[in-house]
Amino acid sequence: MASVKPVKVGLIGAGAISGIYLQNMTQIFSILDVVGCSDLIDERSRNRAQEFGIRQMTNDEILSDPEIEIVVNTTYPLSHYEVSKAALLAGKHVHCEKMMATTMGEARELMALAKEKGLRIGMAPDTFLGAALQTARKYIDAGMIGTPINACALVMRGYKPMGEQDGRLSMVMTAGGGIPYDMGGYYLHAMIHLLGGIRRVSGFAKTRNPVEVFANPRHPRYKEGFDFSTPNMMTAALEFEQGCYGTLTAMSESFGETPRLEIYGTEGTLVLSDPNNYGDPIYLIRNGYQQMKPCEVPFTHGYPVNSRGIGVADMAWGIRNDRPHRCSGEMGFHAFEVVNGVQESCKTGRVYEMTSHVDRPAPLPAGHVAGTAAEACLDN
Ligand SMILES: NC(=O)c1ccc[n+]([C@@H]2O[C@H](COP(=O)([O-])OP(=O)(O)OC[C@H]3O[C@@H](n4cnc5c(N)ncnc54)[C@H](O)[C@@H]3O)[C@@H](O)[C@H]2O)c1
Repeated sequence: MASVKPVKVGLIGAGAISGIYLQNMTQIFSILDVVGCSDLIDERSRNRAQEFGIRQMTNDEILSDPEIEIVVNTTYPLSHYEVSKAALLAGKHVHCEKMMATTMGEARELMALAKEKGLRIGMAPDTFLGAALQTARKYIDAGMIGTPINACALVMRGYKPMGEQDGRLSMVMTAGGGIPYDMGGYYLHAMIHLLGGIRRVSGFAKTRNPVEVFANPRHPRYKEGFDFSTPNMMTAALEFEQGCYGTLTAMSESFGETPRLEIYGTEGTLVLSDPNNYGDPIYLIRNGYQQMKPCEVPFTHGYPVNSRGIGVADMAWGIRNDRPHRCSGEMGFHAFEVVNGVQESCKTGRVYEMTSHVDRPAPLPAGHVAGTAAEACLDN
């Protein structure tokens, strides 16, 4: 694959998740050439730059570097819109962490800007490119569960307002970051990848305990109240364009973590695990089996471990091979509209008709399961 010119990348937002992105983008994917990273906090980009042997840069240096083609936006959700917009205006393709913005207006603006400039916008999560969800797609497309007729997704994660010791409120308690946006993105991308676009949504969403209190005695704002400005409970009913129904419950008001994703068909059921992961086991139940015990199925695809950045690599191969990238802006926008549409439906008491449409992204070719050779599945 050395004959293809690698695509130069700059990463903006050198916080927690940038570590695995940079590790994979510098070490796993030959199509990517990471030039440098930046952050509002100097120390963070300096540390990441040293760790991965890349340049510490400012946002402006990344945006004005004529060789950088893709900006990876791993800032927190409150900064996604401004950083992606600046990158598009600077003529760069963008791959952004979920979700794309904090308002529908901003999200529409980004989509229109990318189109106007002839640039790509791509959205995380890219976990559906991993071994588990690609294998699940292969089983569904091969008819192993017949026609999918229902899907059930549930994610519960307990979030309490402990806060960082630097005083910043955790992103899951600020606009655009609540669990329906944050974790909901994994489930929605997984379901769109498997079942296609969504026609109508309805449901309930709210912020339980809208005024919370900092609970950590070491937090500078210990015992102070704050507005929890994003929903922390949502139950959505989904009608997919192909006729399948689904539900998605995402909440952060209880304790523990219970990720669930199941797809029910006329001939069987696929029991999947956490779509935040790339290679959790998947199980098949076929109608007619006497005991109906779920049977673990082997993976047909590679990338079973944390492969964050595969979506960026897929975009880079897409640029070089002149084909669409799979973690598309359309998919990210559609998922964002679902979460906002459910809130709208809850307010109006009416079913929300989706305004956006997305097709299932092309599946990855099967069989590329081992080591670095797996990257050949993206060269298509
Ligand atoms: N932490 C995780 O486990 C995880 C997992 C998957 C996805 N994500 C997603 O990744 C994104 C980032 O999450 P994180 O946990 O790394 O957050 P973080 O707060 O640790 O890092 C975000 C970084 O972005 C920087 N930043 C913010 N605005 C900026 C700007 N305008 N210019 C330059 N730098 C800026 C911040 O200073 C911070 O260092 C979020 O969208 C989150 O949903 C996080």
